[in-house]
Amino acid sequence: MDERKLSQVAKQMIVSGKGLIAADESAGTCQKRFDAVGVPCTEENRRAYRQTLLMAPGIEEYVSGVILHDETIRQETSDGESFAAVLEKKGILSGIKVDAGTKDLALHPDEKVTEGLDGLRERLVEYKTLGAQFAKWRAVITIGKDMPSGACIHANAHALARYAALCQEIDIVPIIEPEVLIDGEHSIEQCYEASAAVLKKTFDELAGQDVALGGVILKASMVIAGKKAAKQSSIEEVATQTIKVLKESVPANLAGIVFLSGGQGDEQATENLNAMNKSGKLPWPLSFSYSRAIQNPVLKLWAENPSANMGSAQAALLFRSKMNSLASQGKYSSEMEKTRPY
Ligand code: 13P
Repeated sequence: MDERKLSQVAKQMIVSGKGLIAADESAGTCQKRFDAVGVPCTEENRRAYRQTLLMAPGIEEYVSGVILHDETIRQETSDGESFAAVLEKKGILSGIKVDAGTKDLALHPDEKVTEGLDGLRERLVEYKTLGAQFAKWRAVITIGKDMPSGACIHANAHALARYAALCQEIDIVPIIEPEVLIDGEHSIEQCYEASAAVLKKTFDELAGQDVALGGVILKASMVIAGKKAAKQSSIEEVATQTIKVLKESVPANLAGIVFLSGGQGDEQATENLNAMNKSGKLPWPLSFSYSRAIQNPVLKLWAENPSANMGSAQAALLFRSKMNSLASQGKYSSEMEKTRPY
């Protein structure tokens, strides 16, 4: 492990004013997203759509890295160039989703554990040759009656730490993503409790595997009431509670934190990030690693007419990336939405 190299890449991922685009949707998730806009989810359509994203002129101004799927890191542009090479030319880092998805957790109905450690060392070596400089592993935590269980938190935190150690062994920066799902009727207080327990256990396990935190990025979910909760959370509540849980649970020497959007509205995800960054000095940079909250308008436009709308889809991508870049510096205002090009 080359701690200096890891820390240098992690710093580049979270450099001021930039964030990550998550474009690593699995075939199943892609199917759902494409079905919603009436486009057949073929390999060629996934490639063409992702080419529209990755080749958007100017995204390098707001985006430091893109998380790719196994399929995409092996694909090429219509001109025969690998996507990783295209990104490298723009000074954007390529990342790779390496978990193998979730399975039911034994003895714990309704809870999940993320798999993918078997053979991971060998897969990471290959991804490195394909151009990946960072990786992502997502764990899923559900809030509900007697959930999350200690068993679910422990199993997922342990897997995250084992994954992170394997990444660092070959100088790939691990993004650790313990996502507390927004689905459900839970209150913001319940989300706070679950997030605190998950984060504390995850950092205990990382310490247990001797993972160097200066070369790790946390991809966090915000502390927020469930989508079906009677009382929805305000921007101020989300910002205050998320910062509180992070300060209590995340060591100050971690390289940085990026957020997932998790089903929040596009502007809501931007507003919440902005509020956190406006709230004063924090031990780590806070930025974005959104999939839906950046791609929603892009996919819609592209799906209407892939060739005629390519420019407008890319303009939408650029706009949401710029808004989130401003939010990562606490400089966003909802007034700016009036200038959006879609
Ligand atoms: P969303 O922003 O759509 O939640 O996706 C982020 C992500 O990468 C989940 O793993």
